[in-house]
Amino acid sequence: MDSATAAGRTLAGRHILLGITGSIAAYKAAMLCRLLKTAGAEVQVVMTPLAKQFITPLTMATLSKNPILVEFFNPENGAWNSHVSLGEWADCYVIAPATANTLAKMATGVADNLLLTTYLSARCPVVVAPAMDLDMYAHPATQQNLRTLVERGVRIVEPGDGELASGLSGKGRMAEPGEIAAFVGRLLDGQDEKKKTLTGKRLIVTAGATIEAIDPVRFISNHSSGKMGYAIAGELAARGAEVTLVSGRTALPVPPGVERVDVLSADEMYDATVAAFDKADGAVMCAAVADYTPESVSETKLKKGDGELFIRLRRTRDIAAELGRRKGERILVGFALETDHEEAHAQSKLEKKNFDFIVLNSLRDAGAGFRGDTNKVTFIDRTGDEALPLLSKQEVAERIADRIERLFAR
Ligand code: C5P
Repeated sequence: MDSATAAGRTLAGRHILLGITGSIAAYKAAMLCRLLKTAGAEVQVVMTPLAKQFITPLTMATLSKNPILVEFFNPENGAWNSHVSLGEWADCYVIAPATANTLAKMATGVADNLLLTTYLSARCPVVVAPAMDLDMYAHPATQQNLRTLVERGVRIVEPGDGELASGLSGKGRMAEPGEIAAFVGRLLDGQDEKKKTLTGKRLIVTAGATIEAIDPVRFISNHSSGKMGYAIAGELAARGAEVTLVSGRTALPVPPGVERVDVLSADEMYDATVAAFDKADGAVMCAAVADYTPESVSETKLKKGDGELFIRLRRTRDIAAELGRRKGERILVGFALETDHEEAHAQSKLEKKNFDFIVLNSLRDAGAGFRGDTNKVTFIDRTGDEALPLLSKQEVAERIADRIERLFAR
């Protein structure tokens, strides 16, 4: 099935607001508009003043079968183009092409044209398809703006690699119209009531950091916030699974429908997870578990002396490896956070712990890892690698849940 047909299933009758900014790629917006219309969507087009230099309002009005909106009001008769009602009308606001300039304004809340005021008022999902020269795309300012937007829930259809209008070649070329239409179709499909594809499955998710006591006051821990694991637990439960979340200490709320078991140390996490695995159909090992813990915990607060202090540490038990040994037909998903030789380390972990697949985060990637709301991961299994673009942790959780569904369907 081609992408336009796939999109058509969910686009029929939907209200799509198409934003066009001043980029050479604006000509592709005409094709996108046609695809959306052919799929049965209603389309209204809002353009920045500069976009009119790249594609005519007449073309877009003819294709969308609606007048084009550019100004805050019609200078002929004073009719007000309400950004609030446009934002309310839309089921999805797609800005394609989105220039570096518009992305920067969106990230900082500048509202100096109708396309931007509509963005600030929109309550619907917003999708941007960046289009620019490779150096502009790679510039830290643009990348930072994209991260800010992703953190606020904006979806990005990543640009492709290829020949650019400047004559250079690289990443920055707007995604093809069929790809953008399919992306919007999938997004709107996912907004509908989640399909209960995991009903009847019992899954365990470990999340957060463990805390290894040194004395009644001090401990050894790490920077894991638990956000990724909580997003996964929430997503699996939304798809109908019975989820037990074995969680280190965090301030995060328990996702709806999830049963949380609170633990502190790696030993406590081991006991709770191994016990729950007996009745489970699978587990996602997202917790950042301490590899070492103090050999003994002082009952009283350690007093400082003049010299150095040595704390002897012993190895903790590896929860994932133990589940890997007991696994059988069950599904086991692991995480790996590496700072060097990422892929090789992840591959060996896949084997050692008997994971079905591993989610690799690299601390080298901006926007990946601890505390933030975004992540950039690569899925690794025995058939190969799949590198995902920068996504919100919620979207990464959805991709993980998709893979788990496929594993159950084997
Ligand atoms: O070996 P490493 O700690 O890098 O492996 C990471 C994976 O193993 C993660 O999925 C993590 O949750 C899991 N793990 C575990 N118990 C440990 C150590 C790691 O479940 N003691």
